[in-house]
Amino acid sequence: MAHNEDAEIRILTGAYERLPVPGDRPAELDLGCGTGSFTIALAARYPERQFFCADVMLGRLRKVVRRRNRAGVANLEVLRVEARHLIGIMFPDDSLDRIHLLCPDPWPKNRHRGHRLLCCDFTTQLHRVLKPGGIFHFSSDDENYCDAVNRVMESSGLFELYMPGIEDVGNIRSDFENRWLSEGKMVHHRAWKTLPLPEITIGH
Ligand SMILES: C[S@@+](CC[C@H](N)C(=O)[O-])C[C@H]1O[C@@H](n2cnc3c(N)ncnc32)[C@H](O)[C@@H]1O
Repeated sequence: MAHNEDAEIRILTGAYERLPVPGDRPAELDLGCGTGSFTIALAARYPERQFFCADVMLGRLRKVVRRRNRAGVANLEVLRVEARHLIGIMFPDDSLDRIHLLCPDPWPKNRHRGHRLLCCDFTTQLHRVLKPGGIFHFSSDDENYCDAVNRVMESSGLFELYMPGIEDVGNIRSDFENRWLSEGKMVHHRAWKTLPLPEITIGH
């Protein structure tokens, strides 16, 4: 069955596809956006910024398009793409001001740990696509995942904890955060800022 929303979802599959990012305004990405409450509200609050949201699940992205259009939000592009491909090869270097990864699947079982999106090689790619001083915003209700992400980010040497980086988000919450809060769970937020790569002097 044809869905009208599909024409408004950009599907990125090609290995050499590059996503142009406007250089004249701040750009933000919501990675694994789900049904999009968070990005739509943020994009509506900051119409002078360009937003991208990405997910693999087409049904969720169709819902994002419907909700975005109903809200009259014009500065949000909807992408269907796997997160590692998007961050690894599709965004140019130094192109994003902020990346949000909110309530990602925690994969709590030991044998599934490898499915987690945030691991040490991913930090290198996040650093590549973020502009100097760019912000990575992470949230989760899963204490173990939060601890693991803290360790990975701190030990990378590429980021420093910088909570003011998400002050402007205020009370905007994602759909999963609302769900966890309604069940009485806590959702923890962290923000990190990119550090410059260390200078390496090659001796003679
Ligand atoms: C638990 S939901 C959270 C959705 C949203 N961020 C929120 O907080 O409401 C995780 C989302 O990430 C998407 N996702 C999981 N793995 C992904 C991947 N490798 N690439 C892109 N999206 C992914 C899922 O389809 C799902 O919509």
